[in-house]
Order: sequence, then structure tokens, then C-alpha cells
Amino acid sequence: MSQTRKLFIKTYGCQMNVYDSERMAEALGGQGYVQTDSAEGADMILLNTCHIREKAAEKVYSELGRFRELKDANPELRIGVAGCVAQAEGEEIMRRQPLVDLVVGPQSYHRLPQLEARARAGQKALDTDFPEEDKFDHLTARPKARRAPAAFLTVQEGCDKFCAFCVVPYTRGAEVSRPAARVMSEARDLVERGVREITLLGQNVNAYHGHEGGLAGIIRELATIDGLERIRFTTSHPNDMDDALIAAHGEVDKLMPYLHLPVQSGSDGVLKAMNRKHSAESYLRLIERIRAARPDILLSGDFIVGFPGETEADFQATMDLVEAVEYGQCYSFKYSPRPGTPAAERAHVDEATKDDRLQRLQALLKRQQRAVQDRMVGREVGVLFERPGRAAGQMVGKSDHLHSVFVESSDLVAGDLRRVRITGSAANSLAAELV
Ligand code: 5AD
Ligand code: SF4
Repeated sequence: MSQTRKLFIKTYGCQMNVYDSERMAEALGGQGYVQTDSAEGADMILLNTCHIREKAAEKVYSELGRFRELKDANPELRIGVAGCVAQAEGEEIMRRQPLVDLVVGPQSYHRLPQLEARARAGQKALDTDFPEEDKFDHLTARPKARRAPAAFLTVQEGCDKFCAFCVVPYTRGAEVSRPAARVMSEARDLVERGVREITLLGQNVNAYHGHEGGLAGIIRELATIDGLERIRFTTSHPNDMDDALIAAHGEVDKLMPYLHLPVQSGSDGVLKAMNRKHSAESYLRLIERIRAARPDILLSGDFIVGFPGETEADFQATMDLVEAVEYGQCYSFKYSPRPGTPAAERAHVDEATKDDRLQRLQALLKRQQRAVQDRMVGREVGVLFERPGRAAGQMVGKSDHLHSVFVESSDLVAGDLRRVRITGSAANSLAAELV
């Protein structure tokens, strides 16, 4: 065994990156690395980056600049960039920031041990291939340590949809599903180590085809695992929300009543320009069918304001759609042009208009979120407790509907799944008592 070295990983962006960071730490575990939670004193710093919006990518360069002092103090320090900025910019990162020793794209994490060895030997190491082999097969097994009660499990990566604004089809490549048998064995392993809730991840998770029954099929099979109590998935595309998956929401008790189903805009003209291949109306009809299957489902979504060509009337159509759906939780963004995507070439909406629309949309979404939360008061729901709260004797967990819930109790521990009655609603959380 080689000497122990300290590894600091900083993760940006989506949950898929959170999952990948865990797996990278495991891959480097074999090289004698243990994870540390600060860059100071680390022997290797990895930034697992996000390229989805311009700001996210720029943050990476400003963060890298701050590592100069650390490198001066410790010439043995190696600095790596992983994730979607690594994939999109490749060698350009090393040119722009010579401090960087290693650049690795999301499909090449199983090659990290070799890349690390090259970087350690003083060479620049770069790998942004889309290799044939499944990166997850080659990553070393997760060590048998106890795990927190809620875990992510990536089942699908990449995207074939080519929304006109999005870099994912370029950075994460074509849609690839992991075989059901691999997903099942990883899930069983997680459950053996204390996991009670699994969130299946994929950029287009409901396009999953590693099981003959699609995503609904793997969900039903996962539901047979004793000890696994809750199943979730994210992120979905409306066009892949098939009958089987809708039915699963009504029939599989372990599948939680929460669905992230981004629509991006409520204007048919904008949806067409975005290459979404669905209309506002077809989305609303879909929501009706999902709610018919699972009436208490909490819906969440993503919105982009100020997409090239968006008029005030288009924006109003988005506000109307939001009113019609009544979301429990949403993410909303100003359109950010991404190099290489079709929409980046078009005439842009001015920044002040984008700001104004984002503010109006976010005010509406915030009101809805609060209204949905307030209506939970008095209801009984399940909560999976995850950690102590800040106040003494307090535990925090997630409800079936993914609300953060605080309970005063001295005999709860992380991993307890209990019924609670909601007693209060605050800005971003609920208070409850055990029943
Ligand atoms: N500009 C702004 N928001 C974007 N998203 C994706 N690409 C862009 C972009 N170029 C948003 C979408 C997507 C979420 C993950 O990020 O709403 O659903
Ligand atoms: Fe960011 Fe998308 Fe890459 Fe996730 S997949 S890290 S959201 S660019």
C-alpha cells in the first residue's frame, strides 16, 4: 500500500456530480488517498465542475486561481479539473490555468488512477474520451463502510434530446443506461450499508432502458429489496413520462410522491425554438394524468426566462402555466448562452428584461411553494430522519414529498423512518411531531 495522501474534492452542479465525486474518491482510495474537507494541506485537489450556465464555468477559473498559494507552499500538490467544464474545455483549461495538472471528463473516471500517476510524475494528464467501456464497471467497489440513510445511484447518463440551450448532450454525450443487474447489485450493497432511500439519477432518467420494463421496471424490481423503503428519481423529460411510469406512481408504495418534471417555458413558440418537442398543453394534460394516478404528488420543475426571442406575451404564458400547475418547488434561471449550442447564435433578450422576468417568476414560485407547504400543516406524512438539527434535541429529515422536516425528540436517530404530523410551516422547512 502506498503512503496516505489527502484528497479534497469540491463539487459543483447537479446530483450526478455529487455521485461521481463519491466514486472518484473511491477510485483514488486505491492509490492511498483519503478524503479531507479542506483544500489546505491536501495533496490532491479535484474540482468536479458544472458547465450548465456561464457563471458556473467562470467560478471554476476563479477558484483555481486561489490555489496558487497552496501550490507555492506545497509543490507536491496536484490540481485536477473533472466534470463538464473538463469535458467542454479540455486542454484549454491547462493553457488558461497552468496550475492544473490533470483534466478528466465525466466518462473517464475509471482511468483516474493512471492519470493520477502521470500527474504525480510531473506530467500533464488529460482524458476527455468517450470510451466504449462503462466507467462504473471499472470503478472499484464502494468500500463496505456505513452510509447515510439516503443515497444517490446513477442509472443513466447523457442525453439525446438536444434542447437548443443545453450543453449536456455535448459534455455528457449520448444517452447510456446501466444494465439492471448492475443497478440492482449496487442498490443491495447500499441497503446492506444502512441506506433506506435511493434516488436514481440520470440527465434523462426516465429514458432509462437498462431494464426491459424501462424506468418503471427497475423501480418495481428495486421495490422488492427488503430494507429499501423509499425510491425517487431525477431528472425527467415530459416526453419520456410513459404510461408504465405513471402507473408506477399510483401502484408502488415505495415510490415517493414527488416528481421533478421540467417544462422550461409555458409558450409554445419558445418551446418550439427550444426544440423541446412538446407543447404547454400536452405538458398540462400529462400533469393531469400523473395527478390522477397519484393525487398527492408534489411537482417540481425548471424554468428558463429570457430565451432568445422570448416576448412579454411568451413570458406571460410561462406565468400562466405555473399558475395552472401549482408547483411545490422549482428552479428558475436566466437564459445563459452556451458556446456550441444552437441558441447561442441567436439574438439575445437584454439583461434587464431577463432580470425583471426572473424576479417576477421567482416571486410567483415562492408564493406557490409556501402555499403548498402551508397546506401540509395538520397532515400526517412519513419522514426519514437524516441528522441532528442545530437546536439540542432536534432531528431533521425529509418527508415523503421531500420537504425538510424538523422534529423535537431525544430518541430519534439517523435512519429512523417515522410517521409525523406537520405542525408548522416556515420559509424552507416544516415543523412536526411524532405520531
Ligand atoms: N441557460 C439557463 N439555464 C439552463 N439550463 C440548462 N441550460 C441552460 C442555459 N443555457 C437549466 C434548465 C435545466 C437545468 C438543469 O438548467 O432549466 O433543466
Ligand atoms: Fe452541470 Fe449538467 Fe454537467 Fe450536471 S450534467 S454538472 S448540471 S452541466
